[in-house]
Amino acid sequence: MLPPTQNSGAVPQLFGVFLRSIPVSTPLPCDFYIYIDEKPVLFKKTGDSITSSRLKSLYKYRVTKLYIPIDQKMAFRKFMWGALTESRPSCNEEAAGIFRQTGFLLAEALFTSSDPNEAIKKSSLFAKESTRFIGEEGWKSVRKIMTTITHDDYSYNHAVNISALAMELTGKIFGESEQDVLWQAALGGFIHDIGERMVELAILEKKEPLVKQEILKIQQHPVIGAKFLESLPKIPESSKRIVNEHHENFDGTGYPNGLTGEKIDILARIVSLCDVYDSLTSDRPYRQKLSTKEALELMQSMQPGRFDPTLLVVFLRIVKNN
Ligand SMILES: [Fe+2]
Repeated sequence: MLPPTQNSGAVPQLFGVFLRSIPVSTPLPCDFYIYIDEKPVLFKKTGDSITSSRLKSLYKYRVTKLYIPIDQKMAFRKFMWGALTESRPSCNEEAAGIFRQTGFLLAEALFTSSDPNEAIKKSSLFAKESTRFIGEEGWKSVRKIMTTITHDDYSYNHAVNISALAMELTGKIFGESEQDVLWQAALGGFIHDIGERMVELAILEKKEPLVKQEILKIQQHPVIGAKFLESLPKIPESSKRIVNEHHENFDGTGYPNGLTGEKIDILARIVSLCDVYDSLTSDRPYRQKLSTKEALELMQSMQPGRFDPTLLVVFLRIVKNN
């Protein structure tokens, strides 16, 4: 997520963070830059803080991101994790921003860290915090997390989106007080594509149609992901099944095992719907995003066969009501 202009000399390489995620009146863990006339300018130094009135004036000028030096990203990640787990934010714009930013950084660690076990453990806690946040504050909070969406780093945002969407659909099916199953859906949704760690970026981001070998390689990611989680007893079985079964189709034409109907775990059927919807409504290297209406029409045209028909009806109702 590099800003449009890169600098040499005094300004370090920068990384964009969501403005809404930055806690107010709290000493900052790193330097923050702002872009003015396409040039980065130091805005706050480490240890400074941002007042809510200052934030409001930035919103007024339609600033949505600030930038931190890449070499200070670890300090920022630690700071955001503390904001999420220690101060336990309640439902407001800032809290939704904290969830999105923390989720984004965590997903980045899941996909890129040389030892992702720590990120997987934290994903479990992140999913628990998400269900607590939603359980305490109601389902409007899912929308608050979702409305801070940007799609410039697809895989990381996609993980956060699927986690939130899967929780919403699971809540409608199982009941919104079923914290355990909500957590399993949130966690499985967050880590569902972890097997893509082993697929080359050149294939994942290829603009041209994929050749057979490349398709076969991508189709291995559910199995690779499930294998990866095998040795982690604290990850619930249903979250592991989401990872392994989220590309199965209701009529048995999916992969890796060609499972049919209710042989596919119900949470995997839920994540499959959310996955396709979020992918269609996101810009991808090989096509532009569709509108909500176009995406829903396309998903309906895949029926019968692609999705669980009962879940699809509930999903359409959720998306249309928002
Ligand atoms: Fe996938």
